[in-house]
Amino acid sequence: MKQFKFNVLFLSFFLFLFFACNVKEKSVNTKNPFKHKVDSLLSLMTIEEKLGQLNLPSSGDITTGSSKSSNVAKNIEEGKVGGLFNIKSAEKIREVQRIAVEKSRLKIPLIFAMDVIHGYQTTFPIPLGLSSSWDLDLIEKTARVAAQEASADGISWTFSPMVDISRDPRWGRVSEGSGEDAFLGSRIAEAMVRGYQGDDLSKNNTLLACVKHFALYGAPEAGRDYNTVDMSRVRMYNEYLPPYKAAVDAGVGTVMAAFNEIDGIPATGNKWLLTELLREKWGFNGFVVTDYTGIEEMIYHGVGNMQEVSAQALKAGSEMDMVSGGFLNTLKKSLDENKISMSEIDNAVAKILTAKYQLGLFEDPYRYCDLDRAKNEVYTTENRNFARKASAESMVLLKNDNNVLPLKKSGTIALIGPLANNAVNMAGTWSVATVQKNSIPLLEGLQKVAGKNVKILHAKGSNVEYDLDLEKRITMFGKTIPRDQRTDAQLLNEAVKIANKSDVIVAALGESAERSGESSSITNLQIPQVQKDLLTALLKTGKPVVLVLFTGRPLAIVEEDKNVPAILNAWFPGSEAGLAIADVLFGDVNPSGKLTATFPMNVGQVPIFYNHKNTGRPIGNKQGKFEKFKSNYLDVRNEPLYPFGYGLSYTNFTYNNLKLNSKDLSANSEIKVSVEVTNTGNFDGKEVVQMYIRDIVGSVTRPVKELKGFKKVFLAKGETKTVTFKISQEDLKFYNYDLEFVAEPGEFDVFIGTDSTTELKTTFTYLN
Ligand code: BGC
Repeated sequence: MKQFKFNVLFLSFFLFLFFACNVKEKSVNTKNPFKHKVDSLLSLMTIEEKLGQLNLPSSGDITTGSSKSSNVAKNIEEGKVGGLFNIKSAEKIREVQRIAVEKSRLKIPLIFAMDVIHGYQTTFPIPLGLSSSWDLDLIEKTARVAAQEASADGISWTFSPMVDISRDPRWGRVSEGSGEDAFLGSRIAEAMVRGYQGDDLSKNNTLLACVKHFALYGAPEAGRDYNTVDMSRVRMYNEYLPPYKAAVDAGVGTVMAAFNEIDGIPATGNKWLLTELLREKWGFNGFVVTDYTGIEEMIYHGVGNMQEVSAQALKAGSEMDMVSGGFLNTLKKSLDENKISMSEIDNAVAKILTAKYQLGLFEDPYRYCDLDRAKNEVYTTENRNFARKASAESMVLLKNDNNVLPLKKSGTIALIGPLANNAVNMAGTWSVATVQKNSIPLLEGLQKVAGKNVKILHAKGSNVEYDLDLEKRITMFGKTIPRDQRTDAQLLNEAVKIANKSDVIVAALGESAERSGESSSITNLQIPQVQKDLLTALLKTGKPVVLVLFTGRPLAIVEEDKNVPAILNAWFPGSEAGLAIADVLFGDVNPSGKLTATFPMNVGQVPIFYNHKNTGRPIGNKQGKFEKFKSNYLDVRNEPLYPFGYGLSYTNFTYNNLKLNSKDLSANSEIKVSVEVTNTGNFDGKEVVQMYIRDIVGSVTRPVKELKGFKKVFLAKGETKTVTFKISQEDLKFYNYDLEFVAEPGEFDVFIGTDSTTELKTTFTYLN
């Protein structure tokens, strides 16, 4: 009997291999061309093997010990692992893949994932920085380059793009997203999915993308990471969900469930979210992976024990369990107790197998492990040059009084600050594949770009924080800024001494890389006090000061804005940081970045964003003067320090002649709005021309303004260009009270300008 069973198994396995590997027949199922293959493989799998496919452990001891003897290796051999993450290098991955395809019974290849968030070894600016470029082609190319490098190094799946809208700079993960706006966020989400996945997932230089964190992760109460989220459906649909949907519409292969709850149900086990909305309404047909220990965390959310939450997660539509082990260890019991069905398990397994087919892993499990590619395609000069460009395009010039910038390539520069000569912090948060120490610090970049006629003096000036404990928390994971053992006064004196010898001071201050990012929420949005004190001392020298601000979030820099003549926001610029900053400081690149997240006056204004509602008691004056019984504060005006869309250039742009080609829009037509933009300054430059629309009367209240279009245009000095946008019914649609996506007839304002405060406007009527 045993022998008979074995023969049947053996025969079916051969049949499967025949179908899976040799038959190139076209499937009758056009939606999933791999359906036959997936079904026949499924029919061979034991329940344990099925649950194994749903299991995504971290690489654990396999990255440290010998892969063959590790625990993870044993599990792979037993068919208990569907994929691995946190492992890199083509050589290592080839070795681990070999265990799956040579030692496990069904020889199903593993999928290898990684947080390739803003580049791979060649590292681009943090996503909030990249979004400030407002350059979709450039952003798409950063994802393409990241895919090229990561896929050459064995990776086939990236946990990116992160598209969580956030209006709360206390939340450390604002650094990982594209800011506060759903329209811009959606365009960036599409661009990144295109960049990673290309037009054919089975090519060896594309990655499966993963849009995250579904959903609303960017709106935790009080900006505290992993905290509760609660919002109305109208807000959710109009202001938070669009970028996830845009990624799904762009064909993203996977979705990561968020840690937070939605309407009291953790996203990981939220059937409305993962099935009704994502699959049934949006038509998503890839697979859903939980976030790290997302299933286990449902226990702490308070919705059940491990067995219960695992069953709930599966039934809700989570297909792959990252790290919890809940699927692997409890779903069989739930199946035996009829708490879940075999078809629910099969559906989940089928989606994961389909992704592996799409990636071409069954055809060649080593597709992403070509050792020559890794040598030739990672961290190339070409990619690094591109990263330098992308970094420069992302920087935002916040202030430039008396044209302190650009700097001359002559004279003496005093470069001062704890971030002036620190390589390991330059790539910022989530830069897993970066060789931190190889990033180019500002001192080196300045020296290289300045040429022979500039003398550069350097001093650290201060530590990064007064508080040693806090300093340890904000300089983790190897991103250290070694504490200088000299006293604060000694550091300061040295800095002031060299400052006095210079023609201009460049102060490299702000956040250390780990002061933003995951689990890095903060209630103080100012530059750390020790650095502020340093800045005050430098300003006292009377020399012109340029503040190069490193940050992963909007900071409240009111005093700096008042006192420092020039401020360049560099974010965390990536592996080519120093060169890119120097390019901008010396004017080799004219800055053109614009903020995608509002900079508040103080933390009390948070959450703060441009597309707010008018309220029943808006203030009437534009000077920010307090008005009793109106919606404002006693101690600070409503307006932010720097608004969404804001950013200066070394040149000036003027806007004239705003025109509509028709005052009426009907359902099937479109109207054109145009404006003349002139470069009136002394430098060639790029301007991000922004179009906002206001729906004056709605069946639900509408924002005071919403971004509906933008174009980044180059204008030589003296040049004028006419920039035109089309407006159709689609641009006016929103989710009404019944969550129908509609355009309502009536009057609309259309604004065009250099940032979200523009008042240049005209009006049209949507007739329908
Ligand atoms: C983060 C995710 C990330 C995952 C895997 C989690 O802690 O929230 O964004 O993809 O870890 O590294």
